[in-house]
Amino acid sequence: MHIETERLILRDAVPEDWEAMHEYSSDPQVVTHSMWGPNTEEQTKEYVAQIIEMQQQKPRMSYEFVVVLRETGELIGGCGIHQAGYNGEIGYTFNPRFWGHGYATEAAFTLLRLGFEELGLHRIHATCRPENEASAAVMKRIGMKREGRMREHLFFKGAFHDSELYSILRHEF
Ligand SMILES: CC(C)(COP(=O)(O)OP(=O)(O)OC[C@H]1O[C@@H](n2cnc3c(N)ncnc32)[C@H](O)[C@@H]1OP(=O)(O)O)[C@@H](O)C(=O)NCCC(=O)NCCS
Repeated sequence: MHIETERLILRDAVPEDWEAMHEYSSDPQVVTHSMWGPNTEEQTKEYVAQIIEMQQQKPRMSYEFVVVLRETGELIGGCGIHQAGYNGEIGYTFNPRFWGHGYATEAAFTLLRLGFEELGLHRIHATCRPENEASAAVMKRIGMKREGRMREHLFFKGAFHDSELYSILRHEF
């Protein structure tokens, strides 16, 4: 799978991508709000192997893409969409060297297009930790609406965490 947008390419990962992905997956400031990380090299390689294996699913229910800047060919982040019936969930992580340019917004919007126009989804949701304002801002920019807060539904890094839940329906897209 290979999708081109104005500034980005969203494509399936290949084994050689691990190093560029590791640059941000091993960065503590990137994973502050995530269940995973900071990754060791082994963990990033294992994750890349998992998402490559995912490419073989039939029918394919999960897409984890690497995001490449068209202008320079640099790998700047990752994003994904996971299907469960008529529902989808999206997520994204970018290298901080490329924050603040709207790339995450452009990639997340592309995932909505894939979900509604190609996968036939009716609803797409995303979650973030309440402190993760940058992620909530991406969700709002792509037209998602806040549904509410899931209280202490996740346990990771030694504590229970809340999540903000956002979604968008097909007719709102
Ligand atoms: C969440 C994350 C991807 C957001 O990255 P980001 O760079 O803030 O988001 P965008 O790429 O959409 O860029 C938005 C910023 O670019 C600016 N911008 C510039 N050009 C833009 C454009 N064409 N379109 C939209 N925004 C643009 C916006 O004004 C905004 O700046 P601001 O933060 O100063 O208001 C990033 O913070 C991240 O990787 N965090 C760690 C992982 C993570 O938390 N993932 C989400 C898990 S729930």
